[in-house]
Amino acid sequence: MRVSVIGCGHLGAPHAAAMAELGHEVIGVELDPEKCKALAAGVAPFYEARFGELLAAHTATGRLRFSTSMAEAADFADLHFIAVGTPLRADGRGYDTSQVIGAVEALLPLLPPRPAAIVGKSTVTVGTAARLQQIIDRFASAARVDLVWNPEFLREGHAIEDSLRPDRIVAGLSTPKARAAIEEVYAPILARGDVELIVTDPATAEVLKSAANAFLTTKISFINAMAEVCEITGADVNTVAYGIGIDKRIGHGGMRPGIGYGGGCLPKDVRAFTHRVGELGARDAHGLLTAVEHVNDGRARAAAELVEKANGGPLDGCPISFLGASFKAGTSDVRDSPALRLAERLVERGAAPVIYDPEALDAARAFHPGFSYADTVHDALQAADLVVIGTEWPQFTHDPGLPDEAAALVRRKVLVDVRNAVDAGPWLLAGWEVWQLGRRPQRPPHSAA
Ligand SMILES: NC(=O)c1ccc[n+]([C@@H]2O[C@H](COP(=O)([O-])OP(=O)(O)OC[C@H]3O[C@@H](n4cnc5c(N)ncnc54)[C@H](O)[C@@H]3O)[C@@H](O)[C@H]2O)c1
Repeated sequence: MRVSVIGCGHLGAPHAAAMAELGHEVIGVELDPEKCKALAAGVAPFYEARFGELLAAHTATGRLRFSTSMAEAADFADLHFIAVGTPLRADGRGYDTSQVIGAVEALLPLLPPRPAAIVGKSTVTVGTAARLQQIIDRFASAARVDLVWNPEFLREGHAIEDSLRPDRIVAGLSTPKARAAIEEVYAPILARGDVELIVTDPATAEVLKSAANAFLTTKISFINAMAEVCEITGADVNTVAYGIGIDKRIGHGGMRPGIGYGGGCLPKDVRAFTHRVGELGARDAHGLLTAVEHVNDGRARAAAELVEKANGGPLDGCPISFLGASFKAGTSDVRDSPALRLAERLVERGAAPVIYDPEALDAARAFHPGFSYADTVHDALQAADLVVIGTEWPQFTHDPGLPDEAAALVRRKVLVDVRNAVDAGPWLLAGWEVWQLGRRPQRPPHSAA
């Protein structure tokens, strides 16, 4: 099938590469000329597992190409994915949907007189698809252009894997022709027989996506609130999370305590949904989501307090080796990164963090030029009083050589892991204290404290 992907950022570019991998002929449309040029040359503008490899392979054969021209996409493709951004409005009261509306308004008049499907993947609040349908009805005969709302559930860091093997495909649509278009574009996935296609109306598809994000963040904030209780009572939150997660109704997914959710999606999606449900008069939902956000907003402060405790007092002038900048492991995305939120709190408290990240240094330097950075983990560790793991990259949490390597460079062997992700054993054996949220500090065998 000939498809276009309009908006080639963290969602759209991997989606375009995945569509080419499924066998489609794909054109990606990207407004930003630099990003478009890199993509067209087969060079990934950000880190995402397997993305670079697929991008290079499919741009080389010509099955995947990129352009800044909407007209080229309109002419070429029969199905147009909309994957542009939906940032929060400047006043924080819901999404700024101008990129979505703008992309559809730019595409419609360019479409040739043959059937086409517009398939929205961007995350929007309920009502946006209805608004787009009105715009489509004004521009084109509804019989010719179909609208589908097909929210995306991929996890950054696993974007390619999740696009090729999604948990489910949700399609909000209203005509048999729209259903046929979705079944055709996802045919290679559906043919495997292990992925459910949920066909529903556009409003349900919109709410389903928002509800998925709301539930994930509720789980995260729940276990983080329990971390607070454990801190006060001396209980161990990792054991609590493990023990309650055995109950199948609760589960272990999304239950690792830590510094809270971040990134380009969850924080703004929950904020926009909270606002929208409030606007709609859904008071209970509004109360629940407000609490979820409140807990998350407090995590950087809780983590900064833990660092202070681990230091044994105020952080004034304290040199900190700060490992991690991306909002989570597996991506170079630093948007709304909890790690950088904590680094900011530490600076406010007088500390001097030096940040290292295996993939996100360029992005962090570009978006947060005020911090100090090191180009290698070795440089970041030099003469630190504390080591803070801000992002759960496996090379920080599970490299058995790091505790000894770090021990030779730092001034004090104190590790603060605000993701509760570290395998503490090798650190303790190498003589480190290990501090995690909602847990008692772990001290090396034979230490005096
Ligand atoms: N990033 C994710 O993992 C993810 C997952 C699920 C859903 N989403 C949703 O997908 C949408 C996109 O997210 P993102 O993280 O990729 O954002 P992003 O900002 O990384 O990418 C959006 C891209 O669209 C481009 N763009 C804007 N208007 C355009 C136009 N008219 N024509 C061509 N290009 C245009 C921008 O230049 C930008 O590169 C958002 O609604 C987000 O909530 C993202």
